Amino acid sequence: MESEEDLARLIKKVSLFSQLSPKQLKSLAKSGAERKFDAGHTIVKEGETGVGFYLLLDGKVEVRKKKKVLTTLSSGAFFGEMGLIDDQPRSADVIAVTPTTTFCINPWTFTGVVKGNPEIAMGMMKVLVGRLRETNKALSE
Ligand code: CMP
Repeated sequence: MESEEDLARLIKKVSLFSQLSPKQLKSLAKSGAERKFDAGHTIVKEGETGVGFYLLLDGKVEVRKKKKVLTTLSSGAFFGEMGLIDDQPRSADVIAVTPTTTFCINPWTFTGVVKGNPEIAMGMMKVLVGRLRETNKALSE
């Protein structure tokens, strides 16, 4: 288990949060939990209700829908934002493909941080648009 300072340092590496002050990073570190998964573990299951938002601190995960790999995410990425934003069941499985360390933030904390730092919402929209473009590209290939 990392110390609060170590966690704050790791969270800062996630580009979405790179602009946060040391104080904000520490309060984020305090209000979530580090979670480690073995390779092969299903972290998020399609269809389940869940609102945890995951930062990928270390490792690699695959986003899969009915066994089809939609994308692979690595350190510095995030997942689980869809359930958090629209309160709908998880849209896909997210499976660790290597030993993986995540930092799981509860929706209340996350909403509070975003309200105080609108650039996080902008950064998130940018990533979501990128994922939509990737999906569109794959569909048209
Ligand atoms: P959520 O629906 O909460 O849980 C599954 C997660 O997989 C989802 O949030 C996104 O973080 C991620 N995800 C779903 N579809 C895609 C996609 N097409 N590209 C990248 N990530 C995705």
